[in-house]
Amino acid sequence: MKYLFANWKMSLSAEESVALAKEALGFKIPEDVELALFPSASAFSAVRDVVNGKLPLGAQDGYLDGATYALVGHSDRRATGDTDEAVAGKMKKAIEAGVIPVLCVGETKAERDAGKRDARIREQVVSALTGARVQKVFIAYEPVWAIGSGQNDIPGDTASAIAVIDAALKEAAPDASAVFLYGGSVNPQNVASYTHLPALGGVLVGKAGTSIATLRGTMEAM
Ligand code: PGA
Repeated sequence: MKYLFANWKMSLSAEESVALAKEALGFKIPEDVELALFPSASAFSAVRDVVNGKLPLGAQDGYLDGATYALVGHSDRRATGDTDEAVAGKMKKAIEAGVIPVLCVGETKAERDAGKRDARIREQVVSALTGARVQKVFIAYEPVWAIGSGQNDIPGDTASAIAVIDAALKEAAPDASAVFLYGGSVNPQNVASYTHLPALGGVLVGKAGTSIATLRGTMEAM
């Protein structure tokens, strides 16, 4: 199974979210692809009502009623003050609520330039998952500098980051089963270079997930 998670952030109004969800319901989704939508909290219940269980939904920051998934530690939230400790707290709450957490990790440009990529992503995984009673977790590697910038990571670099994350997960939560995603300026043109990496189970998209053409194009190119 390949996962396409569309994080709509605050890009769409409730009306636009409902309209795009209706379009997505009409997509011919390949059998080996799971498309999940992550509407904003204010659009969530309206989208949930139209989707009516036919597509999985996710919350953008912790638990929402009707969500299968929950993003935890997205860089937008870390940028507005979520520390590693706060992320660990949200992780526990998501697990208790019974949603599948999608932990987001990634280094800033300054951390990468200082040679601290591996140390930073390892720290984010270990702090979020040590002691968590997690059975199934998604971990999205999203370099902060690649998000919304049009500058996607080099897939070979992504593969080495995923190896670091996998090792950290085995240390922090050895019994958890994990799916690894990449996020950061993924689009229909570059998505296959990530989904073809053997260690990756899919992608988390922001901008590309917010229009019918690019959402469908990304799905079809996976
Ligand atoms: P982007 O966002 O695809 O627009 O870079 C990714 C994300 O924030 O998850």
